[in-house]
Amino acid sequence: MSVLVQWIHVTAAVIGVGAMAFLLVILLPSVGFLTAEQHDRLLRLVMRRFGWVNWSVILLLLTSGLYRIRSRYWEAPWASTWKWLTVKIVLALFVFAISLLLTLPLKIFDRFRARRQMWLSIAFGLALAVILISAYLRG
Ligand code: HEM
Repeated sequence: MSVLVQWIHVTAAVIGVGAMAFLLVILLPSVGFLTAEQHDRLLRLVMRRFGWVNWSVILLLLTSGLYRIRSRYWEAPWASTWKWLTVKIVLALFVFAISLLLTLPLKIFDRFRARRQMWLSIAFGLALAVILISAYLRG
């Protein structure tokens, strides 16, 4: 069971962070030649799909992550491992919050979407830090 949960956690992380990297490094820098109308239409379609992928990834990371805490850390005393795990989870929650602000179809979040590239860069940087802490914890 724990190998399956680890596989789900790592796969969700790969798809979630990979989707952010694709948007940030490949798609957004490549659509400048489109007319404003084409640009908006493409981004609306892409962000709607990105939304579904993201919400599924957040759900899988939270459930598999909590399972792994229960199976690997629950009995562990409060020491540096727990401290790093807490930092990781707080950073992960910021990544989740930013991706929800960019994908939830609520008008109040339009001002965040207006600075999509900046927020995606922040979320991507934080996600890379989360992976670094995870690799450290793994070690
Ligand atoms: C942006 C979100 C996240 C990313 C990119 C991420 C990524 C990863 C990666 C790459 C690993 C190492 C895989 C392995 O070798 O086992 C890992 C392990 C782990 N993650 Fe996450 N994770 C995220 C969110 C979370 C959350 C929200 C939780 C808890 C609620 C969590 C709990 C854990 C635990 C307990 C481990 C096992 C650490 C160990 O090896 O001892 N993760 N995560």
